[in-house]
Amino acid sequence: MNESSSLETLRDTLINSSGSTPLSDRFRALFYLKSIGSNHENDPKNAQLAIDYISQAFNDDSELLKHEVAYCLGQTHNLNAAPTLRNVLEDLNQQCMVRHEAAEALGALGDSNSLELLIKYFNDPNELLEIKQTCELAIERIKWENSKLSKEEILQKSLYESIDPAPPLPLNNSTDKIDKLKNILNDNNQPLFQRYRAMFRLRDLGTDDACLALSSGFNDDSALFKHEIAYIFGQICNPITVPSLIDVVQRDYEAPMVRHEAAEALGSIATPETLPVLKNLLNDKDEVVRDSAIVALDMWDYENSNEIEYAKV
Ligand SMILES: [Fe+2]
Ligand SMILES: [Fe+2]
Repeated sequence: MNESSSLETLRDTLINSSGSTPLSDRFRALFYLKSIGSNHENDPKNAQLAIDYISQAFNDDSELLKHEVAYCLGQTHNLNAAPTLRNVLEDLNQQCMVRHEAAEALGALGDSNSLELLIKYFNDPNELLEIKQTCELAIERIKWENSKLSKEEILQKSLYESIDPAPPLPLNNSTDKIDKLKNILNDNNQPLFQRYRAMFRLRDLGTDDACLALSSGFNDDSALFKHEIAYIFGQICNPITVPSLIDVVQRDYEAPMVRHEAAEALGSIATPETLPVLKNLLNDKDEVVRDSAIVALDMWDYENSNEIEYAKV
């Protein structure tokens, strides 16, 4: 399998139709399909097929794979992915991380047609906190994207290709001050969207001090909030974050969602001290963390080898 494999070969690898496809190959197939699904302006027919094939993976059992599937659909800029994502959010048989990622993906697509559904889950007192908070962010992101403010604000151009759950705070004097951003980040009285905007501003500053400010967020109560910081650390790849990621991944009280993201971040940073930690996680009590260790070790090997090409995420 490679980038020019047929769509059907990629689908078969993704959904593991042989029954013996390694998880890391399934992820690679997903990333290739995602780039085809994103190309809907130039090749709408294949883009639609790619979206349909990716969506078939929601029948799988792997929480890790399916959450990545939802994430990838949200990154395609392709609104044809929205109906499937809405179904996944509504499907209470899907695991928490999968439904979370589906809600976040609807926000990433900026899909105004999903607002009603997102508001419903945000207001549902019986809903899991991770889902409610994700819906809150997705609602605010969609509103922001369609607001006058988004046209007026001047944002630093991101170094990363990801569509994030919130834009960074706009450029002005106070948003270059790390202490001020750190205060907003950790201020439970601020709306979550605003705290995320400070988080992404810190990511885009990207200095050692900005990373240390971000790691202070690992003391928060919200699993969602902490998993996003771990995700960002996997993007920044600054070794200064390694001690805090190792601490988080080894907390036995920590939510699997957070530990999963910390494991994958360690796989991308891939410094020598991360290897024994990741190997240990292959026997973790949580399946999603064990699966993350497989993926993280694959990334670790890549970072420490001379391979030129890994699926472009
Ligand atoms: Fe997530
Ligand atoms: Fe994740």
